[in-house]
Amino acid sequence: MGFPNDFLWGGATAANQIEGAYLTDGKGLSTADLMVLGSKGTKREITQTVENGKYYPTHQAINHYNQYEEDIALFAELGFKCYRLSFAWSRIFPQGDEQEPNQKGLLFYDKVINLCLSYGIEPLVTLSHFETPVGLNKYNFWENRKVVDFYAKYAETVIKHFKGRVKYWLTFNEINVMSTMPWNAGGLSLASSEEQKMVAAYHQLLASAKVVKLGREIDADNRFGSMYAGHFSYPNSADPADIQGNEEFQQKMLFYTDVQCRGAYPNYKLKELDRQNIKLPTNKGDDSILRDGIVDFVSFSYYLTHVCGKNTKGILKGLNGLETGYKNPYLERSEWGWGIDPKGLRYALNFLYNRYQLPVMVVENGLGATDKIEADGTIQDDYRIDYIRNHLAEMKKAIEIDGVPVMGYTAWGPIDLIAASTGEMSKRYGFIYVDLDDEGQGTGKRIKKKSFDWYKEVIASNGEIL
Ligand code: BG6
Repeated sequence: MGFPNDFLWGGATAANQIEGAYLTDGKGLSTADLMVLGSKGTKREITQTVENGKYYPTHQAINHYNQYEEDIALFAELGFKCYRLSFAWSRIFPQGDEQEPNQKGLLFYDKVINLCLSYGIEPLVTLSHFETPVGLNKYNFWENRKVVDFYAKYAETVIKHFKGRVKYWLTFNEINVMSTMPWNAGGLSLASSEEQKMVAAYHQLLASAKVVKLGREIDADNRFGSMYAGHFSYPNSADPADIQGNEEFQQKMLFYTDVQCRGAYPNYKLKELDRQNIKLPTNKGDDSILRDGIVDFVSFSYYLTHVCGKNTKGILKGLNGLETGYKNPYLERSEWGWGIDPKGLRYALNFLYNRYQLPVMVVENGLGATDKIEADGTIQDDYRIDYIRNHLAEMKKAIEIDGVPVMGYTAWGPIDLIAASTGEMSKRYGFIYVDLDDEGQGTGKRIKKKSFDWYKEVIASNGEIL
């Protein structure tokens, strides 16, 4: 009963949301570095170059590049068994297409990984988390098949370099956001056509499969996961037309993971592409690349659920991680309007396991909320504790009652970081507070919140005390 003994408890971050030092030690500009600070309910502006007078949150982020020792020591104090981090491709291949890697970039991740290992923390590395080197612009980013090879070279470099030290890898963060946030997913403009997005997605799926195969050849102990932006949805009613509308939404979101977990494009997607007159840029031999690149496990982020039906077609465009379709009257919402649905996590775990029969891992979950420092200096974030506790309780049911093989749980943003959708610091997820505001003003001091001690006990008791 309960969580398995080797359950991977921990937290998850992304390079561009924590590191800062955006041009330090030879790092090149990444697509994330061109995203201007936005705000609740608005889309972030994306500029062609870094413009004076605009604030780009990734340039400084929370200065983890210089404070990683302090941050990882706090993760160790929390008792992390696992830390999900991402490597910034542009630290290692600054323009994306160099022949040789930037040694200083590798050195930074050497220090981070070695420190994690010294604390007994298992690293889980995302190779591409919402950032692509801007130097690949000259190829039109992922629309060009050449980028598959540049990515494979980068991946091969780091997988070889970290052989024996990093075993768990995710090829692309939330690969399905190519449909909703194409700039984040792969440097495609927000105005891209469906064809451009589907071509880029094809290249990413090919790249993912290549790297899985390559990674296994480098070390048979390596384990690769797909990573799905958890857009789970319920039908709006028992009206069969709503059931069909909901199914179509799920298909739009899930086909990427279908390819990664089953090794081929599903029929429903091939038929849709036909109807749309979109031809995938296939080459001879691609089928076997996809087949040989089936992942070992399926991971996902989970923040909210959607309600879809016959009238939700076309709404996908404005999705941007936010609510799609109908409002769910049974759910409370976060300050950012995301429907809070712990029970849906049990549903999601069952859904993915039953669809793929692969081990499942929750690699992101958490509550973005405004925190207040009390007069006595404490941060009483009971709302965050409640949110995570309720989700963990449902995850436990999925394991104990339903028998879903859940490998682990890494809470999103264990330390406050900049939000991906808006760039705000004030949308905080952490157990550790970072004293910086939306414009990056503040001391940068790290302060433990009430949830810090709570999560520490959860891990120490292996989920027995929630
Ligand atoms: C996921 C991303 O979409 O959601 C993270 O993988 C992101 O990078 C997280 O931070 C939460 O979204 P936001 O916009 O609140 O940061």
